[in-house]
Amino acid sequence: EDMVCHCLLKGFNLAVFREMTLASREMPLKHLKCHLLKDIEYGAEDLTILGNGLAFISTGLKYPGMPSFSDDPGKIYMLDLLDPNPKPTAVELQIKGQLDLNSFNPHGISVYTDDADSSIYLFVVNHPHHGSQVEIFQFVEENTLLHLKTISHPLLHSVNDIVAVGVESFYATNDHSFPNDVLHTLTILLGVPWCTVVYYSPEEVRVAANGFSSANGINISPDERYIYVSDIIDHEIDVLERQEGERLVHVKVGCVGSLCDNIEVDHETGDVWLGCHPNGVKLMTNDPADPPGSEVIKIHNIHSEKPVVTQEYADNGSVIMGSSVAAPYERKLLIGTVYQKALCCDLK
Ligand SMILES: *[C@@H]1O[C@H](CO)[C@@H](O)[C@H](O)[C@H]1NC(C)=O
Repeated sequence: EDMVCHCLLKGFNLAVFREMTLASREMPLKHLKCHLLKDIEYGAEDLTILGNGLAFISTGLKYPGMPSFSDDPGKIYMLDLLDPNPKPTAVELQIKGQLDLNSFNPHGISVYTDDADSSIYLFVVNHPHHGSQVEIFQFVEENTLLHLKTISHPLLHSVNDIVAVGVESFYATNDHSFPNDVLHTLTILLGVPWCTVVYYSPEEVRVAANGFSSANGINISPDERYIYVSDIIDHEIDVLERQEGERLVHVKVGCVGSLCDNIEVDHETGDVWLGCHPNGVKLMTNDPADPPGSEVIKIHNIHSEKPVVTQEYADNGSVIMGSSVAAPYERKLLIGTVYQKALCCDLK
């Protein structure tokens, strides 16, 4: 009943703003058996888990308009979900190469494994000095990331998240229609969905899909045929099909009734897992007396006539605030947040 589609009437008024941000939504709790990850205090905005149980975690995001509680640069952590210790520690990965670590501000991440030689590449959206660029690293043994390349391009002006589709190619979401906040806010108020998904390869950079109010999380189906995009302020998940020339064609839209941020896909089942914000106003104001909650939503059989949308976890902020990502691995679920902690839960 919570998952009904809220069709947004666009226009300049407070009621619509409250509807967009779900400012009045009340949500019942749904808890799991969980523990907080030690040492992660300043956000784990995005994370992703390899087939062998190693999770990469992007921490310490500073994002305009959002609280952040540390002046330290962002970091990438790794957690081994197959560690026999029931509460394994996340370790900070060392970064080697030319990247300026003092201005490192990691946001969305994606992993690509090269079938030719099993090399693992980590793609990271980075906002040094408020800019927007993509870093490509190679994951080398001994907890080290080797920085290979920085990619910037005028079409990659407000990148939120990426999904890698090759050793140097990816799709990226822009969460703003213009890098300028005032112009972007104007498009939201006017109800013109001008945000894009951009395809990048060394040979070609192009808008692959457009018409998003604010394109946030992005990921790919296990068969690599479909791309999923969260249009966060429309409370929608868009399903797009990859076609010749890396164009994306709209297939369908699913309504989730929450402000869903990053998307993770279960490699085995194809289930789509969403880290969502039940209330956007609480996320931005971060009032300790009335904190932002957390919500994890799963979509099963997304390509069928009747996808099954279920709420897998819900908290009012007393355990974890501002969930932005949730990734399953075997019987575990890792949940990260924009600017607070991270949680590891047991799925029944
Ligand atoms: C959240 O829920 C818990 C458990 O029901 C309750 O003790 C707590 O007061 C609630 N917190 C807020 C901020 O509503």
